[in-house]
Amino acid sequence: MKNLLVSASCALSLVCFAADKPVEKSGDKSASAKPSWSQKMQELSQAMSDLLPELTSQKPTTSPKTIAKIKAATAKLQGLAHTINLADGKPSPTPPDEDPSIAFLSALFEREIKHANASLNSGNLEYAKGSLRVITNYCIACHTRTDQGPNFPAFPMPANTAKLPRLEKAQLYAATRQFDRAAKEFEGVISDSAYAKKNQLDWGRAVRQAFTIAVRVKKDPNLAMDIVNKVEKLRPVPPLFKEYVPAWKESIQQWKDEKTKDFTTEAEMYAEAQRLLAAATKLQKYPLDHSADILFLRISMVSHAILAKYPKGAHASEAFYFAGQAYDLLDDHLASPLPEMYYEACIRNTPHTEVASQCYKKYEANVNFGYTGSGGTSIPEDLKELLSELKGLATSTDKSGKTDKKTES
Ligand code: HEC
Repeated sequence: MKNLLVSASCALSLVCFAADKPVEKSGDKSASAKPSWSQKMQELSQAMSDLLPELTSQKPTTSPKTIAKIKAATAKLQGLAHTINLADGKPSPTPPDEDPSIAFLSALFEREIKHANASLNSGNLEYAKGSLRVITNYCIACHTRTDQGPNFPAFPMPANTAKLPRLEKAQLYAATRQFDRAAKEFEGVISDSAYAKKNQLDWGRAVRQAFTIAVRVKKDPNLAMDIVNKVEKLRPVPPLFKEYVPAWKESIQQWKDEKTKDFTTEAEMYAEAQRLLAAATKLQKYPLDHSADILFLRISMVSHAILAKYPKGAHASEAFYFAGQAYDLLDDHLASPLPEMYYEACIRNTPHTEVASQCYKKYEANVNFGYTGSGGTSIPEDLKELLSELKGLATSTDKSGKTDKKTES
C-alpha cells in the first residue's frame, strides 16, 4: 500500500507538472531542485495519511501501540517540516515558485508541529491530538494559493482513511492535492443539515474550504455556484452564516458574467486586484464582514499570482497589502499571524512609502486587537520593539523635508 501511494502519485505528478508548467521557461536551478521538494511532499503525504486516522477517536487514546504510532509519525512530520522551512535561513529544497507566502507558511507549519510534538512528549496526548488534527490546514493553505501545481485524481489511501469523519477526510484529500475528491466530500458535509445544525463553525469551515478550491484551485464560478446552491437548500441555513449567502451568490454571478481574461503582466494583475478590492470594500458593511469572502478569495489569488511571478516587482508591496487584508478575513484572526507576516513584508520591502504606511496601520491594528482583553491592552516588550521599528520604517519622510526614494522621481 505504501508503495502504491507513492508511486501512483509520483508518476502522476510528473505529468501534472509538465501540463501545468507556467508558460515562461523556469531557470535550470528550480528544474533540478524540483524533484527534492516533490519528494519531501510525498513523504509528508505518507506521514499525514498514516497519522490522521489515529487521531480521530474522541475517547482518550490509551493503547501503547497507537501512542507509539502517533509519536513516530509526529516526529517524522516535524523532521520534514524542518527540512522544508524556508524561513529559518538553512538550505532547503527549492519550491517550484517564488511566492514568499511559501516561506511564511513553512515557518508557521514547523512551529505548529513542534508545538504539537512538545505537548506529545510532555504527556499532553489529547491536547496534541487536537493540534495535529488541524495540521492539514497548513498543507491546504500552501496548495490552494493558485491553480498551479498537480491535481491528483483519486489515488489509493491507507485503509484507515475510511474511518475518518467526513470533514477530516475532505481535508486530507485536499492536503494531498486530490482536489476533486476533496470537493465531493466537502459538498457532502455542506449538504448535511443535521451536521450543519450541530457543528455550525465546522460546517462554515467546510463551506470556506470548498469555495477556496472552486475559486483559487479551479477558478470555476460554476463550481462555486453549485456550492452556494447547496447552502441555500439547507433547512435551515445555519444562522451564523445566513446573512452572507445572498452576497456570495451575487459575487459569483458577477464573476460568471465577466469575460474570462488572462492577466499576464504585473500591471494587469495589479489593476485586477485593485478592482476586486474596491468591490469588496464597497460590499462590506463592517470590518471582517464575510459577505465579501468570494471577492477576497479572488483578491488573494491574484496577490499570490503577482508574488509568484513578480516577487521583486513594482507592485509586490501592494500584493502583500492585499494578501494581508484577504487573510485577515479568510483566516478569521485565528492563532495564525499570517496577515501580520504580509504586512511586515510589505513595510520592509518598500520602507517610507505610502503603501508601507498603510501596511503599518493594519499591522498595528491587528496587534492591538490581539493583545486587548478585559484588562486593557498589554503588548509584550519584544513586540513593542518590533512595532516601533516597523513604525519607523513605515513613516514617510516626505513631510520632514528629508529626501527619500520617492523624491527622485
Ligand atoms: C509551506 C508550504 C507547503 C506546506 C506546508 C505543504 N506543502 Fe505540499 N506542496 C507545496 C508546494 C509549493 C507544492 C508544489 C505544487 C504547488 O505549487 O502548489 C507542493 C506539492 C505537494 C504534493 C505534490 C508532490 C508531487 O508529487 O509533485 C503533495 C503530495 C503535497 N504537497 C503534500 C503535502 C502534505 C500532505 C502537506 C501537509 C502535511 C504539505 N504538502 C504541506 C507547498 C507546501
